[in-house]
This record gives sequence, structure tokens and C-alpha cells, in this order.
Amino acid sequence: MTNLEKSIRSRFEVIKGMESFVADNIDLLLKPVSESWQPSDFLPDMAAENRDEQLKDFRLKSENLPDELLVVLIGDMITEEALPTYQTWLNRLEGITDKTGTSSSAWAKWSRGWTSEENRHGDLLNKYLYLTGRVDMRAVEVTIHHLIRNGFDPKTENDPYLGFIYTSFQERATKISHSNVARLAIKAGDERLQKICGMIAGDEARHEKAYRLFMQKIFEADPMQAILSFAKMMKIKITMPAHLMYDGCDKNIFTKFSNIAQRIEVYTVKDYAEIISNLVKGWDIENIKGLSDLAAKAQDYLCSLSERYLNAANRFSFAGSAEKFSWIFDREA
Ligand SMILES: [Fe+2]
Ligand SMILES: [Fe+2]
Repeated sequence: MTNLEKSIRSRFEVIKGMESFVADNIDLLLKPVSESWQPSDFLPDMAAENRDEQLKDFRLKSENLPDELLVVLIGDMITEEALPTYQTWLNRLEGITDKTGTSSSAWAKWSRGWTSEENRHGDLLNKYLYLTGRVDMRAVEVTIHHLIRNGFDPKTENDPYLGFIYTSFQERATKISHSNVARLAIKAGDERLQKICGMIAGDEARHEKAYRLFMQKIFEADPMQAILSFAKMMKIKITMPAHLMYDGCDKNIFTKFSNIAQRIEVYTVKDYAEIISNLVKGWDIENIKGLSDLAAKAQDYLCSLSERYLNAANRFSFAGSAEKFSWIFDREA
């Protein structure tokens, strides 16, 4: 057996060894369906007698959202709507795979449970945006269609260590981004959108907690490989899951969307730095002992990484100009 084969084998064994831990904690990490919110809890009831009034009130509140906030919300919704891609990816991680589609293994239950909670995010944001009447829904739907066709490769190589580092990071990133949209929504007078994004951010926070806990267990069982994986993932950099989005005409639409998210401070380089520092502290990287030279180097790299991003963020002043978006009928944002 080569060293690489041995390391893959031991990772697989660590993941298998965590099954009972996941089984014991799954009910704490996921919410029962009976206690879960559903998209219709936050939307006008189209079956009600007073639906016209409900809709009028809904539109009155969403009327004052600035276009740039609308564009960021659309980009976030498109990202959530590519959920089939993320479930497929999760299901490829070694040891996590749901072999039949109804497997009773704890990892398979986790992946189906996580997906079912996530499924409400795109659903709710999609319906919200549709009802505002301010969005070119066809252009948005074309973008979702392209994105799912294009797929996404976060360079995690079906490796559960890299995978759980990626998800720990990404769930925190989405939590931050949805919370910031909630903050801007109330500023623009839309309490409903504040609640919607707040609820979604709450789910992301729970998912973040779960993935960090899984990774914590991996750090305990296999610190050397865990720290090397963390450093490797940070060197690769966390690619945003929707970076291959395309609306059929604008090759730069993802960059334009990210630039606005940076400009209105929904998700910024500073947030990226904060996430790194939060994970480094949370997994207590600094105090992991007994490492090989290579792993100790990775430890040093990780402990100073957030600082480097922060310095870069402070040097970088962002003044993006307004750009056209098909999603809002070619208005500029
Ligand atoms: Fe989500
Ligand atoms: Fe999430």
C-alpha cells in the first residue's frame, strides 16, 4: 500500500468511526419537520380571501429595497437554488455516500436531512422575489438552469476532511451573508425580508455548528492529517459555490454580483479573513501538539493567515461602478 492509499484508508476509517457520534447527535443538529419553519409561513397566503390586500401590503414593503440589495438577494437565491449540485457533491465524499438513496447510515441521514432543510432556502427566496414583481424571473431561471448544468468543483477531491473544512467555512459565509441582507432589509423598511433572511441565517448557523463539530472530531482522531487538510483547503481557497453562474449573455455576472456584495458589505474580504480566524480559534489550531515538521509548518501558516487577508483587505479600496443586470430588466446597480 502506498502512503497516499494508507492516508485515504485511514480517513475512511475515521469517518466510519464517527457514525455513532453522528447518530447520537443528529436530532440535536437537525430540526424535526414538525418544528421546522416552511416558506409559506413568511409569504402572502394566495388561498386567502384577502390575498389582494396581503399582496398589496407585501409589495408596498418591498418597493423600497435598493436595486443593489435586490441583485445580491437574487445572487444568493440562485446560489441556494443550485442545491442538487451540492447534494451530489456531499454524496461523493468518501464514507458519507448514501448507497441506496434511503440508507439508514447516520451519514446518509445527515446528508438527506441537511438537504431537506437547505431546500427551503432557495424555495422561499425564489417566491419572495417573484412576488415583488421587480425581478425578471425568466432571466433568473435561465441563470439557475445554467448553473446546475455547469456544476461546481470546490477542489475537495471527494475527501471528507477537505469537504467538511469547506462546509464549515461555507455555512459560516452564508450565515454572515444572509444576516447582512436581513440588516439591510430592515433599513429599507422590509420587516418581512428581514425575518426571512434571519430564519435562513439561523439554519446556516446550525449547519455551521454541525460541520465544525464533525471536523472537531476529525481533529481529535487524526490531528496531523486534519491540519494538513485545513492548510491545503486554505491554499486552494474557498471557491464560492455559484461561481459558474451564467445568465446566457453576461460572462461576468458572478463577478459583478460578488462586487456588489463586497460594495454593500454583505460579504467581503474582511468576512473571509474573519471566518479563517474563527475556525483557527474554534479548532484550537495553535495548541495542537506533537506535529511533524510538515504539519507544524501548516500550523504556522494557518495561525497567521487571517492577518494576511485582513492586511490585504485594508489595502484594497473597493469602488465598483454600476453595472447592468438582466435579472432586473437591465437596470444598473
Ligand atoms: Fe442555505
Ligand atoms: Fe447552508
